[in-house]
Order: sequence, then C-alpha cells, then structure tokens
Amino acid sequence: MTARPNTGPAIRVQGLEKSYGELKVLRGVDFDVAPGSIFALLGSNGAGKTTVVRILATLLKADAGTASVNGFDVATQPSDVRELISLTGQFAAVDEILSGRENLVLIAKLRHLKDPGAIADDLLRRFSLTDAGARRVSTYSGGMRRRLDIAMSLIGNPPVIFLDEPTTGLDPEARLEVWETVKGLAGRGTSVLLTTQTLDEAEQLADRIAILHQGRIIVNGTLAELKQLLPPAEVEYVEKQPTLEDVFLAVVGSKK
Ligand SMILES: Nc1ncnc2c1ncn2[C@@H]1O[C@H](COP(=O)(O)OP(=O)(O)O)[C@@H](O)[C@H]1O
Ligand SMILES: [Mg+2]
Repeated sequence: MTARPNTGPAIRVQGLEKSYGELKVLRGVDFDVAPGSIFALLGSNGAGKTTVVRILATLLKADAGTASVNGFDVATQPSDVRELISLTGQFAAVDEILSGRENLVLIAKLRHLKDPGAIADDLLRRFSLTDAGARRVSTYSGGMRRRLDIAMSLIGNPPVIFLDEPTTGLDPEARLEVWETVKGLAGRGTSVLLTTQTLDEAEQLADRIAILHQGRIIVNGTLAELKQLLPPAEVEYVEKQPTLEDVFLAVVGSKK
C-alpha cells in the first residue's frame, strides 16, 4: 500500500457534481472535514446527502469534481479509501437472529482480525451493551440496535466514519443514546461525517455544519458562525439568540 498522506483534511470535496438522468442533484459541492472532528451535512429529504456519502464511500461515481479521504482520491484510489472508512446507513445492517456479541465477532472474523471475542467485548462495553450482548438482536430496542450498528462499523478502527442519518426513525430517547455514542467517537480521534435532516442533531453534535441546498453548500461554519448570520432580535430588553432553525430557514429562503 502507498504511504498515507494524511496531514491534510480527513475529507476534501471539491466541485462535486452528480446527475441522475435529467435531475442535477449535486451542482458543485465543496467542503473539508478536519481530522478528529464531527462534520454535519444538513439538508432536507432529497437534497443529495446520501449521494455525497455514496461518492465518498466509493459506491458511486461523480460526474465532475474530486473527493478524497485522508488524501486518497475516491475515484482513482478506491481500495485505499475503503481501508480507511466505514459507512453506517439509516437501515441497520445487523443480523436479527444472532446476538449482539455474535454480530460483532462475525464482522471481526470477516476482517481477519486477531481475537474477535476480545474486540466484541470491548465494543459491547464502550456502547453500554455488555448486559445485552448475549441476547438476540431481535429483542433490542431501536436505540440499542443502532448503537450495535455503529459499534460494528468501528471494527478495525477506521479513522473516518460516515453516518448517514443515524437517528432517522428513532424515538427521542434512542436518539439521545446515539448522540452520546457519536460524541464519544470524535473524542477518540475518529473523523465523522454525519448527515441529518434535523437541526437539533447538527446543533448537538457537530463541530461544523454545512447546509446542502439545491445542489450546493450554501452555508458552512461552526454553530456560532452560523448564528452570527442573523442578528439577535431585541425583544423588550431580552436578547434572543437565533436558533439554528432560524438560520436554516433564513438561508434556504423559506418562511416559518
Ligand atoms: N439511483 C437514483 N436514480 C435516480 N434518482 C436518484 C437516485 N438516487 C437518488 N436519486 C434522487 O436524487 C435526489 C437526492 O437523493 P439523495 O442523495 O438520496 O438525497 P438525501 O439523502 O439528501 O435525501 C433525490 O431526488 C432522489 O430521488
Ligand atoms: Mg439520504
């Protein structure tokens, strides 16, 4: 394998374009994700978030532009990229018949890792699933299942992880569980690209937030930077800070 030129951004996307037939989904998308950070790609249903993730995960070819992961080009060095990443989608890839622990052991064996049992036990502990480890996944709650799914994607310690709408379809309690899990990932140096439709999720988790709208990134910044796009509204001497929702609606040009 070639040396890893990983001094730059964990993810770099420049001028990315993608159409499905006549439908221009990406019209020149640019963003960087710093190593060890959580980056949220925020957009409505159909904005093109999954399309960006699939291109980055080498599952789909872009029409124009470039994308790289730790300096490796997704189009010309796809096998290098695949060694660095893991992808967790909206639909959990866990096997219902197996226990949580068996699912983890299975993946560790498939990846030819040493001591799959120890890897499984470590992940069960990190994701607060030790007590449920021996139970069939079919008995798990939605939050437990999604946590197991994220745990499975961490086997082999990929430095870059894509979470495509990790909490869509979860109840509020399960969302909180997954949020805690995701915060822990970046704390260990993993770079996380998260897609979400929900503003509070981006607000809770992300170091940087980019809004994908009509094929382009229309805003990209920290939460504090995004909030500065709108002046605080003065209401009877009480300063009201804009929420991310106010900023989102203002920049995409919709009314509440
Ligand atoms: N394979 C495909 N063929 C045709 N249209 C597609 C395909 N995949 C996605 N699309 C369309 O592209 C747009 C963006 O899809 P997607 O990237 O899945 O958006 P998001 O993940 O933000 O909801 C949507 O209008 C969707 O219907
Ligand atoms: Mg999607």
